Amino acid sequence: MKPPDRRAALAQYRARAAVYDLELALFEPIRRQAIARLALQPGQTVLDIGCGTGLSLPLLEAGVGLQGRIVGIEQSPEMLARARQRVRAHGWRNVRLVCAPAEEASIPGRADAALLHFTHDILQRPEAIANVLAHLRPGARVVASGLKWAGRWRWPVNLFVLPAALRSVSSLQGLAAPWAGLAQALTALELDTVLLGAVFVASGKLRESTPPRR
Ligand SMILES: C[S@@+](CC[C@H](N)C(=O)[O-])C[C@H]1O[C@@H](n2cnc3c(N)ncnc32)[C@H](O)[C@@H]1O
Repeated sequence: MKPPDRRAALAQYRARAAVYDLELALFEPIRRQAIARLALQPGQTVLDIGCGTGLSLPLLEAGVGLQGRIVGIEQSPEMLARARQRVRAHGWRNVRLVCAPAEEASIPGRADAALLHFTHDILQRPEAIANVLAHLRPGARVVASGLKWAGRWRWPVNLFVLPAALRSVSSLQGLAAPWAGLAQALTALELDTVLLGAVFVASGKLRESTPPRR
């Protein structure tokens, strides 16, 4: 199966940016579940990888507070423009937004936590995972969530997953277990599935032994 395709992904989210927030409404309870798993503390720094239009920012702000920091990484200029509007509208001064692919982004410092919410293409890029993990402190909490195949015997659910995935990702590679690459670097892995197996929430802590990449 072909790997993620940056040009296709950029075109996908250029077309989708204006309607994205509405389309995600069904999945908002899962966002709350995923961000709760980060167990954020006031003053911490959290990475929002593939932050899109910034829908996670209010909950991340509530977690880290005014003394904390949020770094959003997003490759689509159209999606990120909406995240910037959100930051301006709220007057948040502790959010840094970086327009770059996760595999190339220059990420400041070492964060306490990372969120990858509905970021299948990123999870399928080992170099993106490596870049993100290299900018986390050992023991940092990492949460990934998103669509998955519901399983061989749940084909009616997969009839919902397929069109949703085709609208969201540039490659269906790894859709049976999208967290698999990331999970290798984590301990205390917890995996939940919701919506009849169509969505996963995976969380864990970065292994102490993961070497810094840069
Ligand atoms: C389904 S959206 C999720 C957005 C956001 N995380 C949310 O929860 O609403 C996937 C996002 O990942 C971004 N993306 C895809 N591949 C990327 C990459 N390699 N680096 C950075 N962003 C990427 C897309 O542009 C898109 O905004």
